[in-house]
Amino acid sequence: MALEDMKFIQNFKKITEDAWLKGWHERNGGNITYRLTEEEVAGVKVFINEDSAYTPIGVTVKNLANEYFLVTGSGKFIRNMTVCLEENAGIVKIDEKGENYKIVWGLTNGAKPTSELPSHLMSHSIKVEKTNGAHRVIMHSHTTNVIALTFVLPLDGAVFTRELWEMATECPVVFPSGIGIVPWMVPGGSAIADATGELMKSHDVVIWAHHGMFCSGETLDLTFGLMDTVEKSAEILVKVLAMGGKKQTITSQNFRDLARDFNVSISEDYLS
Ligand code: 13P
Ligand code: ZN
Repeated sequence: MALEDMKFIQNFKKITEDAWLKGWHERNGGNITYRLTEEEVAGVKVFINEDSAYTPIGVTVKNLANEYFLVTGSGKFIRNMTVCLEENAGIVKIDEKGENYKIVWGLTNGAKPTSELPSHLMSHSIKVEKTNGAHRVIMHSHTTNVIALTFVLPLDGAVFTRELWEMATECPVVFPSGIGIVPWMVPGGSAIADATGELMKSHDVVIWAHHGMFCSGETLDLTFGLMDTVEKSAEILVKVLAMGGKKQTITSQNFRDLARDFNVSISEDYLS
């Protein structure tokens, strides 16, 4: 079987194509990383070359030592992942110390992993710890309506969570742990990685003010679905605000009833 016929590669191509069609990935905007399973690592062994040199990640992620990630390339367009994955994405391996990575497949012609690799790997590291390895995907998208809201709503995670929950009944079921907000920061470095990782300890959704969104999930499908749900809620909220604001809404008691019947635990912090 060719590497590109493997299921995780096909899933990756599908969600990159879908995310492009959603309008979340202008030019090289956004980036996606996926942590391979042991079986997938065994399956790709014949295609990879471990001879390349290590490069510093910029953050330390000890619990990701020796893990393999499929990563989009810096400056590469999400819309081109389905055109030629090898040129636009690659597989990297993390070293023994969790401080360096090396490219073992793809990212041809001198391409490099996404400039947001520190934020991605810091978030993966937190999620491996918090979910016992269940989460494998970090997705960063430039979602239009969420970005628009960061110019209008207070940059407070509790406010964003409550406002977006109210826009679609199933939101608290899809993201019960709410949303964290990183104020505007210079992207691409270890400072924004630390801020994002801190919020990933208690949320699966982190918004970067005036920039975009980070979502964490178990599978490519679930992570795409989470991004889509939050962005759709934001689109409804933008429309509601443009129509003059809410005249009625879902109440705190409604949310408690929903949580009980759907068997999800949602924090009272969002229900005052
Ligand atoms: P990369 O092209 O380096 O992935 O950067 C895109 C981006 O969205 C930066 O936040
Ligand atoms: Zn970005």
